[in-house]
Amino acid sequence: MNRWIDQGKSWLETRFPVIEFWNNHLAKYYAPKNLNFWYLFGSLAILMFVIQVITGIFLAMNYKPTAETAFASVEYIMRDVNWGWLIRYLHSTGASFFFIVIYLHMFRALLYGSYGKPRELLWVFGMLLFVLLMAEAFMGYLLPWGQMSYWGAQVIISLFGAIPYIGGDLALWIRGDFVIADATLNRFFAFHVIALPLVLVGLVVLHLIALHRVGSNNPDGIEIKAKKDKSGVPLDGIPFHPYFTIKDMLGVIVFLMIFAMVVFYYPEMGGWFLEKDNFVPADPLKTPEHITPLWYFTPFYAILRAVPDKFLGVMCMGASIAVLFALPWLDRSPVRSIRYRGPIYKVALTIFIVSFIGLGYLGTVAATPIATNFSRLFSVLYFAFFLLMPYYTKIDKTKQPPDRVT
Ligand code: HEM
Repeated sequence: MNRWIDQGKSWLETRFPVIEFWNNHLAKYYAPKNLNFWYLFGSLAILMFVIQVITGIFLAMNYKPTAETAFASVEYIMRDVNWGWLIRYLHSTGASFFFIVIYLHMFRALLYGSYGKPRELLWVFGMLLFVLLMAEAFMGYLLPWGQMSYWGAQVIISLFGAIPYIGGDLALWIRGDFVIADATLNRFFAFHVIALPLVLVGLVVLHLIALHRVGSNNPDGIEIKAKKDKSGVPLDGIPFHPYFTIKDMLGVIVFLMIFAMVVFYYPEMGGWFLEKDNFVPADPLKTPEHITPLWYFTPFYAILRAVPDKFLGVMCMGASIAVLFALPWLDRSPVRSIRYRGPIYKVALTIFIVSFIGLGYLGTVAATPIATNFSRLFSVLYFAFFLLMPYYTKIDKTKQPPDRVT
């Protein structure tokens, strides 16, 4: 019996590298032994991606992407399709949870300097994922064809109109009509269900290839590959399987419990995950009082609104995302991890967090003069964190990191 299994294995292995892959990427892939809580969010991001794809497929079975039928088909899913409400809430609440996971995943990189050499490309692929995820969420939000779907898309696409010379034509080309209309809904559906997910899958693969090329950073921010035993295994590395597969599994179980609690008891999160106005069908003749995007866009939306000139506002909003791409080259610190950084970086990071959350909140409220002034202050602090980074990371008094991970 055993001989047959061995023969079968070697037959397969000479034709398809299952065992080689298992060893290279799991059983003999050595990850730092000190990876902590913050390192759970990468696998949770994969989990959220899978949940969105599966629930999305089931939604698409009953959703009808035309301006006449879209809203009613979502109501049909919520009320008449067996378990339709669950599938829809898993997907809509799932979008917010995906962004919570992604923001924590990105924040980890700020804590431990994970974007630094040699992980620049890993970071850039991550940033491309972030931008495409925002596009994916934006297009998905038009599909239920509620008031906020309609007017949110109207506001964002009209921003392209602010670009000199080509802006008007560009906005028209994106919408496929003079206002958001059936043509817009159809193309957003195509992008949301197939074009962007395909690119996202490709990018996740590139992200992981880049990760496995250089290996994970860790909370001490030191390279475990610098110290190896005679057989070439990092002294501070442990096999990913079984050690981190088990650890990630625990993360997945706890995360799913929290996710289920929200999906079952508070799926709209009081308007934060599904806005109240979106339970009203889109009406091109009636603008809602406050048009606000969902929470994961609001920090950038607040920067847009903080600038009086429309075109400049669009540029600043674009720059607030673009500047993140440059992070690996802005940070000049000799150490990676927050554990060994000096007081200036710690203060700068705290101010950055306050500004980012402040902007996130301000993007959800009406643009009163006080709110606008705060948005301006936080926008300046947001950019200062990045633009002054080459300077303050250089003069900051860092501590000597240990030789081996702690
Ligand atoms: C669909 C989205 C994404 C998926 C599925 C994903 C997946 C992963 C996984 C599985 C890991 C290894 C485990 C971990 O370190 O947590 C990882 C690491 C990493 N990711 Fe992502 N990621 C995504 C988006 C992003 C984004 C948006 C960024 C930042 C812009 C990013 C930056 C990084 C970095 C810098 C690392 C290495 C961290 C370290 O070693 O300290 N990722 N990612």
